Amino acid sequence: MRSLDRRLIAALLLTAVSAAGIAQDDLLPLDPVTGLKMSGDWQLVRSNCIACHSPKLITQQRGSADQWLRMIRWMQDKQNLWQFEPEVEERIVAYLAENYPPPTNRRRAAIPPDLMPPNPYATN
Ligand code: HEC
Repeated sequence: MRSLDRRLIAALLLTAVSAAGIAQDDLLPLDPVTGLKMSGDWQLVRSNCIACHSPKLITQQRGSADQWLRMIRWMQDKQNLWQFEPEVEERIVAYLAENYPPPTNRRRAAIPPDLMPPNPYATN
């Protein structure tokens, strides 16, 4: 297959996937041990975040970078979580915020009035 064709098919596929509302990261492989999305710095999270509790506590949680950082601070204050090197902490938080972000609004947009069926109750 010509490389242009391949690129075209890849682009179409990406468009189709986004159009279907499937976040592209839903297609990331999951670590069979922890269920973490295997992208970027996932191994940093595996080595630092599952000593005390199930990784499910992480994968079922969502948050912005700020919210993830606050959870880490809370565990450090209250749950004996150790301190991280600033650079390591930054990478952990970036991984979490990117792969487990706050939920987006999944409702479809409202239908424009001109595409609505006639209103059977209209009085005029
Ligand atoms: C030193 C032990 C320890 C380590 C290591 C640890 N945690 Fe925790 N974490 C806890 C404890 C204890 C809780 C509370 C568990 C519970 O409520 O059952 C908790 C709870 C959580 C929760 C749930 C918070 C909530 O509001 O429900 C999340 C998310 C979480 N941890 C993420 C992480 C992440 C991300 C890391 C790595 C940066 C991590 N944990 C590392 C001890 C730890």
